[in-house]
Amino acid sequence: MFGLAKVVAQEYPQLKCRCIDLDSATAPSTLWAEWEAGEEDFQVAYRENVRYVERLEAQTLQAAEPQAVSIRENGVYLVTGGLGDIGLQVAHYLGNKQPVHLCLLARSAFPAREQWAEIVREQPHSALAGQIGQIRSIEDSGSSVEVHTVDVADERTLADVLQTIRQQYGAIHGVFHCAGVAGEGLLINKGRAKIAQVLAPKVVGTWLLDRYTEQDRLDFFVLFSSVTSLLGGLGQADYTAANAYLDAFSDYRQAKGRQSVTINWPAWNDTGMAARYRIQKEASPFCGMHPDKAIGILDAVLRRKLARVIVGELNEAHFQTHRYPLPFAISPEIRSMFARPVAWEPETADATPLAPMLTGRTDHTYSAVETRLAAVWQKVLGIPEANVYQSFQEAGGNSILATSLVKEIEQLYPGRINIATLFAYPSIAKMAEYLENKPSAHETPRKAGESETVPLQDKLSDFLKGNVSMENILDYLDQKEWGEEDE
Ligand SMILES: NC(=O)c1ccc[n+]([C@@H]2O[C@H](COP(=O)([O-])OP(=O)(O)OC[C@H]3O[C@@H](n4cnc5c(N)ncnc54)[C@H](OP(=O)(O)O)[C@@H]3O)[C@@H](O)[C@H]2O)c1
Repeated sequence: MFGLAKVVAQEYPQLKCRCIDLDSATAPSTLWAEWEAGEEDFQVAYRENVRYVERLEAQTLQAAEPQAVSIRENGVYLVTGGLGDIGLQVAHYLGNKQPVHLCLLARSAFPAREQWAEIVREQPHSALAGQIGQIRSIEDSGSSVEVHTVDVADERTLADVLQTIRQQYGAIHGVFHCAGVAGEGLLINKGRAKIAQVLAPKVVGTWLLDRYTEQDRLDFFVLFSSVTSLLGGLGQADYTAANAYLDAFSDYRQAKGRQSVTINWPAWNDTGMAARYRIQKEASPFCGMHPDKAIGILDAVLRRKLARVIVGELNEAHFQTHRYPLPFAISPEIRSMFARPVAWEPETADATPLAPMLTGRTDHTYSAVETRLAAVWQKVLGIPEANVYQSFQEAGGNSILATSLVKEIEQLYPGRINIATLFAYPSIAKMAEYLENKPSAHETPRKAGESETVPLQDKLSDFLKGNVSMENILDYLDQKEWGEEDE
């Protein structure tokens, strides 16, 4: 819930949302005092009336206590999400440490071994051929690899698969839980099923994996979380909540005396979901990480007694150009990064790093605001030119990229836009009109459905078909001049 709340506070800045974690030894009057003090800390915990806040501090792995356990020769290791990009890298890593038995748990069906040669021959550049190639290369180094098709959130199938593995090898020595589904979409547009899909592998799956490996006395239970659980992010409510569950679960498991570590990863460069969703490296407070470096860090983490570790380097360039409240406290050392002068001076002519290329108007006339917005659109969406009338979504945007776009525009026009504004004014032309605060008469919107002169009935019909957002509808109703036809 705390992960979800983080994003509620970000998607709805008008709502004040805070998380307070109390133990039973804390007096109700303490909670009341916290409430009355009007504190701003997003997350607070009370233990026996003592107040704690979450604070990010720089640490080195060497400072943590060493752990004696290591990857065993002929050990049996489960990698969930094992055919995903990171899952396969983890499998390679384990196979490089020792000859081991690797059980890759994958949700989608994987072809039987007899078909592999034909697949590689017929579709050599397919994702499937790539996965087959990687499995073969792990096996060439002396390990065995088996793929089990299982949804880790499906209790019965998971229990059966684990039992089969146990019968076959006599033990399970470690779980590397890499299964995950990326989150996308603002809460207002998200249905229960979509949220459940993201929560399933990390919430239900983690709980089931823990429960059904209780008898195995695992050497390793490694949970692949993300820095998103720390930062939140527009459109990331479910993914933040799912990863925050992993973070908390590791402490819970350790409290029961079982090995566990959660790793909050930044984006692995050009890997897996980060690559598919075109995560903007410069838009994150954490630098992207080369997969080889990430694997080196995984190896170092496994040698230490840790319940949770946030790995990676802070993105200094990001802190120099972006200012926004973080949902956690930071140490003075990290704070000094924020105190540096802001490199990007808003509202100056040379503030736009890309040469803007605009299209969409026959007279090729674009306002200064449109030109400035186009540069941001091109940078965030990675497009060579921007059509003034094309909506952000039509130009290839998703809610993750929306986060970056809003942050970039916020740098140019502080305090003028939030995520709702982007969805209400989804094209460069409309956004510019809004920012200039003077609807221009010569503007002919590209789509009839986007015009403020469309009849109410048509607008509502567009809304019901999902073609326009709630914000767009509210904005329309706000600006509409009511006529008899609307009765
Ligand atoms: N990529 C990054 O930079 C990054 C950064 C931070 C954290 N992480 C975390 O690292 C993990 C791996 O990420 P990735 O980038 O490798 O993602 P990926 O390529 O999308 O792989 C994820 C895998 O998880 C599987 N999966 C999803 N739901 C499942 C379920 N219920 N049961 C079994 N398998 C399921 C998927 O199978 P299907 O393909 O069959 O759906 C997919 O193969 C994720 O947990 C992610 O949150 C990744």
